[in-house]
Amino acid sequence: MAEVLRVEDLKVRYRTRGGDIRAVNGVNFTLQERSITCLVGESGSGKSTVALALMGLLPHNGEVTGGSVLFQEQDLLRISFGRLRRIRGKDITMVFQEPQSALNPIQSIGDQLIEPIRTHTGSKKEQAWRIAEEGLREMGLPDPPQIMRRYPFQVSGGQAQRIMLSMALTLRPKVLVADEPTSSIDVTLQAEILARLKGYVQEWGCSILLITHDMGVVAHMADEVAVMYGGSIVEHANVQELFHRPYHPYTWGIFQALPRMDDADRMLQPLQGSPPTLLNLPDQCPFVPRCSKAVSRCREETMPQLDLVTAGHAVACYNMMDLGPKGEGIGDRGVN
Ligand SMILES: Nc1ncnc2c1ncn2[C@@H]1O[C@H](COP(=O)(O)OP(=O)(O)OP(=O)(O)O)[C@@H](O)[C@H]1O
Ligand SMILES: [Mg+2]
Repeated sequence: MAEVLRVEDLKVRYRTRGGDIRAVNGVNFTLQERSITCLVGESGSGKSTVALALMGLLPHNGEVTGGSVLFQEQDLLRISFGRLRRIRGKDITMVFQEPQSALNPIQSIGDQLIEPIRTHTGSKKEQAWRIAEEGLREMGLPDPPQIMRRYPFQVSGGQAQRIMLSMALTLRPKVLVADEPTSSIDVTLQAEILARLKGYVQEWGCSILLITHDMGVVAHMADEVAVMYGGSIVEHANVQELFHRPYHPYTWGIFQALPRMDDADRMLQPLQGSPPTLLNLPDQCPFVPRCSKAVSRCREETMPQLDLVTAGHAVACYNMMDLGPKGEGIGDRGVN
């Protein structure tokens, strides 16, 4: 499989009155052609920051302090604004976590939809309008001509998400960065939209970075999964491997807190404690205060590297879970 995008040692901080927030601390991953990589992790672990940084769309107080994002032999973090703009919106597009605030409140939906189509394809207005309508229809929005006349405050959260999705997908991008793209959409329609996204991966070889809280969505959608905690990826594997052998105590904790179809009577064990504050983050593993497996080394040494445990399965932990040769006892988690 061909590599489409490579994120290397990405570091991002936000400046605040209280000090620097180290939101992303050396993140590495690649997106492969025709493949979906899911980024999962608790609220505040840095998922959206990774997405915004690689698109060059961090808010004014956010700053990339290291690393690179390689796409077609160029580093997106270092190319000119003009070149980035030509790539963004066509080759790499994004669906934002809060679509309603990502839409321009004083421009009609239609005008916002046709703008990138005209810029990137040189289409005439009427033609761009038809392409945009078709895009909305593909995302299951009823009566596209009427939606196009509305302003963002006149559509629901679920509709805004579908509008963003169609805006991001109409030009058949090589990479889609989708941050919780179906969180406000009804479950029935969500399944249909996720199936469409999977279809696009096959249809034109799109690669997707899919950010989600929902492990059901991960099981259904992912080829690869990267688990983030406290601004770092702590585990990365293909979806089968990660669901059957979660080596990092945090990933293990996520699964213990989820219901299981094959063991409905099992007591769920919520993950104790709260996520780390990223303000003045220590150099040690940020999961230590909540970790049942922590040993003195974890408190004394700096955060462990993400190292391969088996081919394609990397874990950043000094004392990972002991799962036995086949990951026994983990059970069926409904992975595709
Ligand atoms: N504009 C900002 N200014 C200061 N701190 C910020 C800003 N945006 C995010 N942060 C902080 O950076 C850290 C990472 O935030 P981020 O939004 O990337 O997390 P996330 O994993 O996407 O969370 P969620 O699942 O809730 O969307 C958090 O501690 C957050 O409070
Ligand atoms: Mg987020």
